[in-house]
Amino acid sequence: MAASQITQDVFFVGAVDYKRRLFDELIPLPEGTSYNSYLVKGSDKTVLIDSVDPPMIDTLLENLSGLGVKKIDYIISQHGEQDHSGSIPELINRFPQAQVVTNKKCMNTLIDHLRVSEDKFIVVEDGGELSLGNKTFKFILTPWVHWPETMSTYLMEDKILFSCDFFGSHYATDRIMASETGWDKIEPAAKRYFGEIMLPFITSIRKNIEKLKNYDIEFIAPSHGPVHDDISFIMDSYKEWSSDKLISKVIIPYVSMHGSTEIMARHLKSSLEKKGIEVLLFHLTEDDLGDLAAALIDAATIVIATPTVLAGPHPQAIYAAYLAKVLRPKVRFISIIGSYGWGGKTVEILADIVSTLKAEILDPVVIKGHPKDEDLKALEDLADKISLKHSEMIK
Ligand code: FEO
Repeated sequence: MAASQITQDVFFVGAVDYKRRLFDELIPLPEGTSYNSYLVKGSDKTVLIDSVDPPMIDTLLENLSGLGVKKIDYIISQHGEQDHSGSIPELINRFPQAQVVTNKKCMNTLIDHLRVSEDKFIVVEDGGELSLGNKTFKFILTPWVHWPETMSTYLMEDKILFSCDFFGSHYATDRIMASETGWDKIEPAAKRYFGEIMLPFITSIRKNIEKLKNYDIEFIAPSHGPVHDDISFIMDSYKEWSSDKLISKVIIPYVSMHGSTEIMARHLKSSLEKKGIEVLLFHLTEDDLGDLAAALIDAATIVIATPTVLAGPHPQAIYAAYLAKVLRPKVRFISIIGSYGWGGKTVEILADIVSTLKAEILDPVVIKGHPKDEDLKALEDLADKISLKHSEMIK
């Protein structure tokens, strides 16, 4: 995308990465992503907020050139991860007079990871300000969204909050304003992003949202995805996703080697649905784990369905359990179902992985071979138990 105007002196100058399909070798990107860099022209100073992933620096430089930028006074670095800071060393080469404005923790990250010289920095504190002449920035430390050094930057005159990863979405589009794409399309991407990146930090997210409540914000300009020009959608969603609220929903991540465990997963699903409970099945060797992360935001129960292989869970089930452990969802109940041939420690291994979640483990249903009538009945009993627990939870 070429440079796009946000307000009179504020421009998107970043890069849209339509083709990228995996982030950090970990997070699937079905909708691509963008690395949002913003240019702010003040009467006395010109500022760049964040940079782009290094392979896309030419796009950033072309956008700056297209706007006639010959001098940058300050590069505000809000976050040390390379998709936003990785091009700063090259920008310093091209604009040697530029100083890097950031907080102390982020400065140390940039020195450690990018070898930026310490004399290039201006260190700001929480609540500190920077004048551009006719415009003023205020810096707001917003740690743990998702790294400890992340900050946001508020442009007072234009009422723009530059929020870095906070409030972002991995959604590639050539329309800079969220209203041009529509919240109905952005919401699923923003929710996935929240599940994948923000879910382990909901306590910090609540504190950071509280910290923003006295600011008059007209635009939220994150470092990924469109700019929110009606902030109520993303703000209300973040408040809900980071709240304690759970819904009567069961997630069943499953893997099945010879079909028995899949029969069990599907029977449990239909038994739960007969009781009006929403159920999402995730085929662990086919489905997108980003969708699983999004579903974890508000699901009350997870049931991991796995066969026993080499005396333990299938490796994909271990991965799903580990994902749940590190994403730290608010889930209240966990169970394990599956089929085995001659025995093993499937339940013990999975229960140990998820033990840090402090969820109640409901009686597992682990059976020998193909499910028989009594096994299906045991799954129906598990559905009864989950239904009862959800009813008590909602009371
Ligand atoms: Fe988009 Fe944490 O970097």
